[in-house]
Amino acid sequence: MKKVLSILCTAVLACISTIQPVKADEGMWLPIFVQRLNYVDMQKAGLKLTAEEIYSINHSSLKDAIVNFGGFCTGEIVSDQGLIFTNHHCGYSAIQEHSSVDHDYLTDGFWAMNQSEELPNEGLYVSFLQRMDDVTKDILGVTTPDMDEKARGDAIRKKSEELRKAAEENGKYRVELKSFFNGNEYYMFVYVDYKDVRLVGAPPSSIGKFGGDTDNWMWPRHTGDFSVFRVYCAPDGSPATYSKDNVPLKPKHFLPISIKGLKKDDYAMIWGYPGTTDRYRTSAGVQLTLNQDNPAITTVLGKILEAEKKGMDTDPAVRIQYASKYASLANFWKNKLGETRDLKRLDVFSKKKALEDQFEAWVAKDPSRKEKYGDVIPTINELYGKIIAANSNKVAWYTQLSFYGSQTLSAAQSFGGVETVLKKGLKSDELKKELEKYYGIADETYKEYNVPIEKDVLAAVLKAYYENIPQDQQADIFKNIEKKYKGNFNDYVADIFKNSIFATKENFTKFLDKPSLKKYENDPLRAVSKSLIDNASRVNSAVSDISPKLGKARRLFVAGIREMQPDKSFYPDANSTMRMTYGKVLGYEPADAVTYDYVTYLDGVMAKENPSDEEFVVPAKLKQLYQAKDYGRYGTKDGRMVVCFLTDNDITGGNSGSPVIDGSGNLIGLAFDGNWEAMSGNILFEPELQRTINVDARYVLFIIDKYAGASNIIKELKIVE
Ligand code: ARG
Repeated sequence: MKKVLSILCTAVLACISTIQPVKADEGMWLPIFVQRLNYVDMQKAGLKLTAEEIYSINHSSLKDAIVNFGGFCTGEIVSDQGLIFTNHHCGYSAIQEHSSVDHDYLTDGFWAMNQSEELPNEGLYVSFLQRMDDVTKDILGVTTPDMDEKARGDAIRKKSEELRKAAEENGKYRVELKSFFNGNEYYMFVYVDYKDVRLVGAPPSSIGKFGGDTDNWMWPRHTGDFSVFRVYCAPDGSPATYSKDNVPLKPKHFLPISIKGLKKDDYAMIWGYPGTTDRYRTSAGVQLTLNQDNPAITTVLGKILEAEKKGMDTDPAVRIQYASKYASLANFWKNKLGETRDLKRLDVFSKKKALEDQFEAWVAKDPSRKEKYGDVIPTINELYGKIIAANSNKVAWYTQLSFYGSQTLSAAQSFGGVETVLKKGLKSDELKKELEKYYGIADETYKEYNVPIEKDVLAAVLKAYYENIPQDQQADIFKNIEKKYKGNFNDYVADIFKNSIFATKENFTKFLDKPSLKKYENDPLRAVSKSLIDNASRVNSAVSDISPKLGKARRLFVAGIREMQPDKSFYPDANSTMRMTYGKVLGYEPADAVTYDYVTYLDGVMAKENPSDEEFVVPAKLKQLYQAKDYGRYGTKDGRMVVCFLTDNDITGGNSGSPVIDGSGNLIGLAFDGNWEAMSGNILFEPELQRTINVDARYVLFIIDKYAGASNIIKELKIVE
């Protein structure tokens, strides 16, 4: 956005930049274009590595130390034996799965003191990017300008499949092909996935999640948000699922760790897998987010969280069971509350509108532009207007999040395959055989399932739906609830839990023992699930023709904006592909007369300590180390322990766990959060306010070494002093 505005006020910016240091550089750049687009700038900012040293497909390079962690986070390789650092909140569900009331690794932490103690995690994988290819010409080559969107989509899918298959080399690689710049460019990503990833270490939540949901998304921050894993492979180095014969992976590259310390304006780049941004969203799109999406999301999630929290507070075993689910919902909920607030507070609508006005003025100046782009903004406005009027997103969110939050509802939906089997009219022994596998699926489905919580969640989401969706857009089922239960959702849910085969694992396995199609079809939860889904698609049908039209208009808008600013370097929206963002260590001014420093210390942890609030408990051992100032080589010269620091990098969800790297290619920290004053950042980057919150590498090593005594881990690392 800074560069967009610079077209308007070049003169003003030019004079500002002579008196102020360069402001945050927005952009999540594609590594293959770094040499062409960013390298000179990066060198000026302090990068000392060559472009080949950071991204190469012929030699090992920095990119080989960056992994996609489980498809939802980022990790980095930090030793020649496949050791991985990522965030505590990225390892959280793995840590939870190994936890019980007797071995509560969430509360107490976990440290393997040798490789044989490292814990395998079924289903967890890391991906190494081999290369990325620009396939725009191949893909767009099968389209024509006058093609309708459906034909275009079909042609693109067919060609993508063809390219993907060829690049897979018979299963040697996993290949993804993705659209960029809203369908104006296409790139292919070739990965090798390693599926034996073991837990090596995790601090207690009182360090790794210090400050909890209260401090989440906020600065000043004091969280040691890291955990340690290791990637294993077959003895020949090839990827393999867990086996005791597997060996630690010898990586192509790993990051040395610098404990030299940092200061304001130091170069910092972050590599990783940002998930989703929508930076080209228009003003009308902002209205949809503000008026429909976010209020729906925060209302439903708020109800789910309330119900889960109540149950978790009553029983330590349940608290462990629901810890990960709860944390990720709470994280999303607070994110959306903040996004709503900042979209309004920072008047993102008007900033978007200003760009659209500039675009329309540019279009109006030239007949060929008018022909190509003349309809773009009016079409986008009209289509978003229709979506808002149809209220369809609201119904969609209430439906989707009800299924997401209620395990009972999602169970009813996910066992749909049972119905198909029952309808085949098989003889009883054949039927038994076909249903056999569902016993195992039931074990999984009801593994972290607590009946009192699930009752409350189901009642809460249904009630919220009933109270917030206009009557003519409600699912049919609500008429019955109104009539039979006078709108008392607790009574209704109590009845469901008595009768439904999906309400508990016992009910469901009893049903599998004695299956009956009639019983299945008359199940009350199946009725709710079906009614909600049918209704959502009924409401959606009113707008189903909008999505391809909107897709086309958004594609043309991005094409037009880029044509309008031929000298500007553009970066594509995040889409879970590898990106690099560079900038520097920097604080900010969150409000009038308030200045935030770029670094926090252990003193701040102690200042926040509150033994009666689980989010702010400080472990005794950490307190002792603090009192003795026993920081070893990780403390500052003046005897303090740094905890977190800020940079002005451009990241988003998915970047969690990403390495913060200095100009020489050393790890100096792990990115783990964004900040409360710029929560609208996925839609518009705010250079003055938007910061990345990182845990300092010195604090990570101090906790591993001094707090946990895991010298086995420290020995593996290459530490730069
Ligand atoms: N806000 C962080 C992110 O989205 C996650 C932090 C998790 N911590 C928590 N207290 N829920 O990456």
